[in-house]
Amino acid sequence: MMKSYNIAVIGGDGTGPEVTREAVKVLDAAARKFNLKLNYTDYDLGGERYLRTKEELPASVVEELRKFPAILLGAIGHPDVKPGILEKGILLRLRFELEQYINLRPVKLYDERFCPLKDKKPEDIDFVVVRENNEGLYTGAGGFVFKGTPHEIAVQESINSRRGVERCLRFAFEHTRKRNKDKKLTLCGKTNVLTFAWDLWERAFHEIGPKDYPDIKRDYAHVDATTMWFVKNPEWFDVIVTDNMFGDIITDLGAMVQGGMGIAAGGNINPNGASMFEPIGGSAPKYTGQGVINPLAAICAGQMMLDFLGETEAAKAIETAVIKFTREKVKSLAAGKMGFTTSQIGDAVAASL
Ligand code: IPM
Ligand code: MN
Repeated sequence: MMKSYNIAVIGGDGTGPEVTREAVKVLDAAARKFNLKLNYTDYDLGGERYLRTKEELPASVVEELRKFPAILLGAIGHPDVKPGILEKGILLRLRFELEQYINLRPVKLYDERFCPLKDKKPEDIDFVVVRENNEGLYTGAGGFVFKGTPHEIAVQESINSRRGVERCLRFAFEHTRKRNKDKKLTLCGKTNVLTFAWDLWERAFHEIGPKDYPDIKRDYAHVDATTMWFVKNPEWFDVIVTDNMFGDIITDLGAMVQGGMGIAAGGNINPNGASMFEPIGGSAPKYTGQGVINPLAAICAGQMMLDFLGETEAAKAIETAVIKFTREKVKSLAAGKMGFTTSQIGDAVAASL
């Protein structure tokens, strides 16, 4: 019997819908080849809808999205909406309400030409960042005192629950085992300054590691040193686990060393629920509607989605097609410089599956 999956698609803002269209094109080609049925339902969340209705994300839509095994997201962010409203009201709210407590961001260089680091090759840049996605500085805990006066105080608190930290660490240990590369997990933190939060992380890491994952080597790096090593010795890393804010920052650097926002994808994962896959780059308003944006990151998000759904063969085929196109065809991974239009890239990857 043909396997069938219901997928929610949120094209979102700016170039989001254009790149999502190409991801769907490639997913459909993979579905034909591997005998799958993908049923898409579109959701028009984003800046336009917000400007029209003054509502970022109706509760009823969250309840509908909860029922999908996977969501494909383009980008959120609109030039006419104040920064923070859509990001918090749509993207972060979905991550939180759907309990997508992991943000999984692979950093993999497909072709040496696109690495800004001297002498680094695909075999040197192949690691995964497991970013905690529901806590830390992102919960919105904090507030103002004496706002607008010379005595104003702004507090932004980092929330680290034992439960939240432990489920993230366990996911990272499991992922390191499943990946089966160096079997090494690096905790990336700041134990020398953030002595409460990182004490909890470090204790949990060294408690559950030897007990439940004795086959996984444990390593630790401060976040500042991690950024240094991403540039100097990226080959040292296999899997990195870190909190929400540090993960946000180091994965932008990770995206650059793998060739830029044109190729970097990630998954917001709830291992037991609706997970959401997205290109890491934003809505790129200045490139909207011109057919110049690189859809490879969105195509890779689609690949991660199939892999998450258990369609490993189909996912692998997409990755192979992306690698081939990246090595043999594309001139640059940057918008407007690829040597192809957005839809030509989708066509080419779909055709080579
Ligand atoms: C990301 C983005 C988001 C984040 C923003 C848009 C809220 O930068 O997915 O990394 O900070 O998590
Ligand atoms: Mn970010």
